[in-house]
Formats: sequence, structure tokens, C-alpha cells
Amino acid sequence: MNETLIDRAMTYVKNLFIDDFSGHDYYHTLRVYNTAMRIAQAENADLTTVALAALLHDADDRKLSPKTTQNKDNARRFMRENHVDDETAERICKIIGDISYAGSNSVKPDSIEGKCVQDADRLDAIGAIGIGRAFAYGGNHSRLMHHPDILPRRNMTAEEYRNSNSTTINHFYEKLLNLKDMMNTEGAKAIARERDAYMREFLSEFLDEWDGVK
Ligand code: ADP
Ligand code: NI
Repeated sequence: MNETLIDRAMTYVKNLFIDDFSGHDYYHTLRVYNTAMRIAQAENADLTTVALAALLHDADDRKLSPKTTQNKDNARRFMRENHVDDETAERICKIIGDISYAGSNSVKPDSIEGKCVQDADRLDAIGAIGIGRAFAYGGNHSRLMHHPDILPRRNMTAEEYRNSNSTTINHFYEKLLNLKDMMNTEGAKAIARERDAYMREFLSEFLDEWDGVK
């Protein structure tokens, strides 16, 4: 693995995400990197590809950088400036494009490296960290935590998912509770089972407290 390149990518994303407080920050990227590397080792995946794809996966997210386009400009520029060969850069951009959640239009990456990064990104949306991120995102977007009359929507397309203006509790039913069964690798499935159980316990406690049963 090319350690210098990975170190540079870490510094690059740290500076890129410095002002983000929406739960889509540098530490999210760092957790995705660490988890992806852990899963990748068990899968014998190419570690440099996994590392770069994980570190750059949100560099062109439109919620973070409204000016960047579908062309993965930030990721491409970083790789060009750091002499990553064209074929590798292309492979990494393909992975980044494939991994994001898009409701019922989500795609499964065809490479094992893509599968590891997608799993790691999804694992960071569930469990205790996932709960924290959901409420941070909700607060950042002026959403209600919960509204008993606004019901979760099922089977949303990518467009509906992006434009949804639902509550944070509904986000668990619309996305987060689906993620456990969407994991690609065995390593991620095991982690997801535990995180999913923890989230369900949280929801049950939250709704009991809401209803005054507890
Ligand atoms: P992805 O990295 O798959 O594109 P998003 O950018 O949609 O994920 O979301 C980033 C984080 O914000 C995740 O933890 C996600 O659960 C959370 N989030 C996204 N949309 C909502 C929402 N409508 N309500 C609460 N949390 C959300
Ligand atoms: Ni992400």
C-alpha cells in the first residue's frame, strides 16, 4: 500500500471538510476509511484502492460542495496532482459513484473494493453513531425529531429520497433500518446486526417515552 499517498489523502479531506457540521464531516470519512480497511483485509481486496475510495468518497458530495459536479472534480484533481494513474483513478471514481444510497435505485458495486467501501459508509449510518448523525442532520436541516401524524414513506426513488422533508424518526424507517439487509460482505453483516439491534432498542425506548408509557 502507498502510505504517503494515503497520508496525503487524509490531510486533503481533513482540510476539505473543516467547516462541515452536518454529520458529514472529516471524522465520518475517517471512520469509513478505518471500517473499510478492516472489512477489506478479510476480503483480500486491494487496500490502496479501498483506502483512496473511502477517503475520497464524500469529496464531491453535493450537500458538502454545492459547486462540484457529477464529474468527481475534487477526487479527480487530488488523484491527478498525486500521480495516481488514469486507470486507477477511473476505477476509484466508479466506486464513489456506485456507493451512495439512492432509495430503491441503489446500486451494488461490481468490485470487491467498492463493496467494502459501500458497506463501511452504510455501517456509519447505523448504530449509536448513525443515531447521532441522523439527529445532527435533522437539526441542521430544521427538521422535527418526530411527528406522530407524519408517516414514513416506503420504496422511495432517488429523487423522492433526496427531496423528502420528513422527520428524523421517519428517516430510520425510510432508510436506516433497511441498511442491515443491504450489506455486501460477511464482515459488515456481522457488525450491522449488532448496530441494527441497538437502533431498534433506541426507537422503541424513544417512542415509549414519547407516548408516556415510560
Ligand atoms: P450517503 O452518505 O449514503 O449519501 P446521506 O448523505 O444521505 O448518506 O446522509 C448522511 C448522513 O445524514 C447519514 O448518517 C444519514 O442517515 C443522515 N441523513 C440523511 N438524510 C437524513 C434525513 N432526512 N433525516 C435524518 N438524517 C438524515
Ligand atoms: Ni459517506
